[in-house]
Amino acid sequence: QLEPLPALTPEFLCVLNDVCVKCYTDFAPDELEVSVREHILQDLEGFVRRQFSGARLRLFGSSKNGFGFRQSDLDICMVLDGQDTMDDIDCITIIESLARLLKKHPDLKNILPITTAKVPIVKFYHVRTGLEGDISLYNTLALHNTHLLATYGAFDNRVKILCYVMKVFAKVCDIGDASRGSLSSYAYTLMVLFFLQQRNPPVIPVLQEIYDAQKKPEVLVDGWNVYFYDDLKTLPSRWSEYGGNTESVGELWLGLLRFYTEDFDFREHVICIRQRARLTTFNKQWTSKYIVIEDPFDLNHNLGAGLSRKMTNFIMKAFINGRTVFGTPIKVLSPIYPNQVE
Ligand code: CTP
Ligand code: MG
Repeated sequence: QLEPLPALTPEFLCVLNDVCVKCYTDFAPDELEVSVREHILQDLEGFVRRQFSGARLRLFGSSKNGFGFRQSDLDICMVLDGQDTMDDIDCITIIESLARLLKKHPDLKNILPITTAKVPIVKFYHVRTGLEGDISLYNTLALHNTHLLATYGAFDNRVKILCYVMKVFAKVCDIGDASRGSLSSYAYTLMVLFFLQQRNPPVIPVLQEIYDAQKKPEVLVDGWNVYFYDDLKTLPSRWSEYGGNTESVGELWLGLLRFYTEDFDFREHVICIRQRARLTTFNKQWTSKYIVIEDPFDLNHNLGAGLSRKMTNFIMKAFINGRTVFGTPIKVLSPIYPNQVE
């Protein structure tokens, strides 16, 4: 049973907005930090090429999607020149020999190959920057979904700010670590984008549904269509609802918490950013889970598949508490007389 929320004053909405914007300004990395990441990547590529002469390393995830924190990990994907794919056995062999090689790198510590995961990786710790990172092989879909997220983030500044707020919220509530049974940052970002697409009027379009040709173009990667409209310059003229939503970030943040606690039917619907029409859990045969998040490209991938019933409840409680906390005006004390009480 949700408690009713009081009407919000313009002053409170202003505070709420400031808190949201602060999540972004306080946590976004500056240019120097971005270039440090590129520098580490170049250095690692040079080092790896001593043994794998055709190796190319690329950053993805939050180092590239525009929603990175100062201490976010370095997500790196390695491919070999002239080779399009790699089978699972070769992946494991290469990850193991990559781990042996990285152990000789003077700036790296805690090298750990993980070959049992869905995507085999080698983890490392970069001593001088204190950054953690991992290298995966042929994680090509991740490069594409990173570009998709980056395009949404660049479309409207409110998208970026809300994705930061969501990540801070997930960290504070301890619900944002897939390796410990909750959801990944990636999953929460998809939840934000879905909400912004479903808002009335929408804040962002469905980029996978916009195209110039008669039929949706097909760009296949690992058997999945990774096409989306990525030309932001021409997008406004292609999207009829462009500019229709003028809500502030604070309103949208509370709107998001209310949407996922009051409106969205988790039993019935899938969080799905590739189409505007609602997709049902029944359509997908994903009825055994409560939080169902479809990957925008790998349509067999439910980001919520690893959630236990207990963790699901824990996450839902965090949203319900968030709704109360962000939806209940506090008395704003004047900064000049901090002890003054009305
Ligand atoms: N990814 C994915 N499928 C998942 C989890 C992650 O494809 N189930 C890919 C996405 O491209 C994502 C990247 O791996 O952007 C990194 O995931 P993660 O580290 O969870 O997200 P980040 O955006 O990097 O956030 P953080 O700042 O917390 O590292
Ligand atoms: Mg990451």
